[in-house]
Amino acid sequence: MQIVFATNNVHKIQEIQHILPSSIQLVTLKEGGINIEIPEPHDSLEANAREKSMTIYRLTGKDCFSEDTGLEVETLGGEPGVKSARYAGDQANAAENTRKLLEKLGNNTQRQAQFRTVISLILAGKEYQFEGICKGRIAFTPSGDNGFGYDPVFIPDGDIRTFGDMTMAEKKQFSHRRKATDQLVSFLQQQFK
Ligand code: IMP
Repeated sequence: MQIVFATNNVHKIQEIQHILPSSIQLVTLKEGGINIEIPEPHDSLEANAREKSMTIYRLTGKDCFSEDTGLEVETLGGEPGVKSARYAGDQANAAENTRKLLEKLGNNTQRQAQFRTVISLILAGKEYQFEGICKGRIAFTPSGDNGFGYDPVFIPDGDIRTFGDMTMAEKKQFSHRRKATDQLVSFLQQQFK
């Protein structure tokens, strides 16, 4: 089957392409000739994921999915959470967001955090959601150039390295995005078996 992935984020496309079985063919927005900035106006990952998938469904009429991910730091009351992409300001890049996070945490030793991904699937016009969580902690300093976003400061439980120090295959073992995508895949396989 073919399914449109409602994102312009090349890192997310690479990671999800790495997870999907060959029976599910991902069509990116670029491949579908769709060139829009998808809005993320809401205060929850669930609502933003739905907004993104519904926007693309309304435009294309095709089965599609989106995902919204946030880094939730316990001692910061769940921040940056839904604001993860814009933590240090609307135009902030990953390095600036990460710097703000490390500044806010300072020398605090309570550094438990989790990545949470919500996938919103629109299949034949109906919405379904899937969640994936990866628990871990925030490092004191960034390490590694792999991955994207907050990867250089996130150490998943069960390892001592940051995601930034892991290959994509290694990150996949722990990844929030992989866990949510696994659920999406088994749901689709159930529907089309
Ligand atoms: P969004 O889901 O596109 O809104 O992304 C939210 C923010 O979280 C962005 O700043 C991303 O860089 C960051 N982010 C999302 N997924 C990951 C991940 O797997 N690792 C590190 N940062 C991520």
